[in-house]
Amino acid sequence: MILNNISLINFRNYDNISLDLCDNINILIGDNAQGKTNILESIYVLGITKSHRSLIDNNLIKNNESFCRIKGKVTTNKTLKKLEFFLSNKEKKVFINKNQVKKLTDYISKFNIIIFTPDDLELIKGAPNVRRKFLNIEIGQLDNKYLNILNDYNKLLKTRNEYLKRLMENKSKDTKYLSILDDKLIEKALYIYKGRFDFIKKINDKLNNIYEDITNGNKLLIQYENNLGIEKYDENYIKKIMKEKFKSNLRRELIIGNTFFGPHKDDFVFMLNNKDVKYYGSQGQQRSCILALKLSEIDIFKAVTGENPILLLDDIFSELDDKKKNNIIKYIDKDVQTIITTTDLNQINEKLLEGSYIYKIEDGHIERQVV
Ligand SMILES: Nc1ncnc2c1ncn2[C@@H]1O[C@H](COP(=O)(O)OP(=O)(O)OP(=O)(O)O)[C@@H](O)[C@H]1O
Ligand SMILES: [Mg+2]
Repeated sequence: MILNNISLINFRNYDNISLDLCDNINILIGDNAQGKTNILESIYVLGITKSHRSLIDNNLIKNNESFCRIKGKVTTNKTLKKLEFFLSNKEKKVFINKNQVKKLTDYISKFNIIIFTPDDLELIKGAPNVRRKFLNIEIGQLDNKYLNILNDYNKLLKTRNEYLKRLMENKSKDTKYLSILDDKLIEKALYIYKGRFDFIKKINDKLNNIYEDITNGNKLLIQYENNLGIEKYDENYIKKIMKEKFKSNLRRELIIGNTFFGPHKDDFVFMLNNKDVKYYGSQGQQRSCILALKLSEIDIFKAVTGENPILLLDDIFSELDDKKKNNIIKYIDKDVQTIITTTDLNQINEKLLEGSYIYKIEDGHIERQVV
């Protein structure tokens, strides 16, 4: 997959810019707060329909403006596609070749992105919802049915929680309806569990080798933690366990008005030599774990979609030693289009500079540098 051109109107600190990108390495250089990350963010939003760093969409719109627009020309499977993202205070719309795609979940997965930022350490240090969000976005990019089912699941979960409250307040006595909701919820949960088991297995097939390459250390894996205690996907077993859990916890659930068991409680941990990296890993080891995770994903995306994803690297070279930098370069083979931000070209390995496009960014203005 290649992003040939991106243009922005009223996005963050940009008025109106258009940027041609080359097939290999593109470098965005500039001082702090000039708009480097904003460009990566716009590419991410074009693919995922929301920001990787802001929960509030409206922050994407330039101050004092009423809408923003991102357009991208993307080559996938040798054909050129025009993608468009439009956001105003009232609506969010996406288009492929000028045709609106009504459901955002049908649009995601058309343009695949792996982003790598200093904030990714939150995948280790942060709360479980950070890791669930990661799983959902990555699995969703590979299978948009997953996203549709996740939406259904979340709606059903809300309905079930509300119904628990009604039962508790004696506004309803019909427990049969609760068991109908349970069955529907379990059906959706199965698809989510399957997606997560599959994805984590694919990661684990790659992760340790890559980690070994980067660090000389080994025995890294991701451990999937679901609160049903299941270790592998088995439809009938999961159904049975979920039903049992719902039944045996009903009294407690009624009091709290909340569903205790299911994929909405999932988590995963990085285990290095059988120890949780969150508590036992050094800062450097934690960074290497994240690096190994993201690099594993490149291969997985390629295997599933038949094409390389686009790699966005936000100011990561400043934090890595030369050995790790060289390893990244090894994995960014010629076919992976990569967009890198940096404040200092000296941090970028010379090998990467060869044939790359370099753009200088200053206060929302962009200029190609010829070296
Ligand atoms: N909605 C918005 N409207 C106008 N300007 C905005 C908006 N959102 C962010 N900005 C501005 O964009 C700039 C930040 O851009 P960005 O995060 O891309 O910086 P950067 O070049 O990546 O800097 P650093 O090197 O520090 O990471 C800030 O000056 C900020 O005030
Ligand atoms: Mg930045």
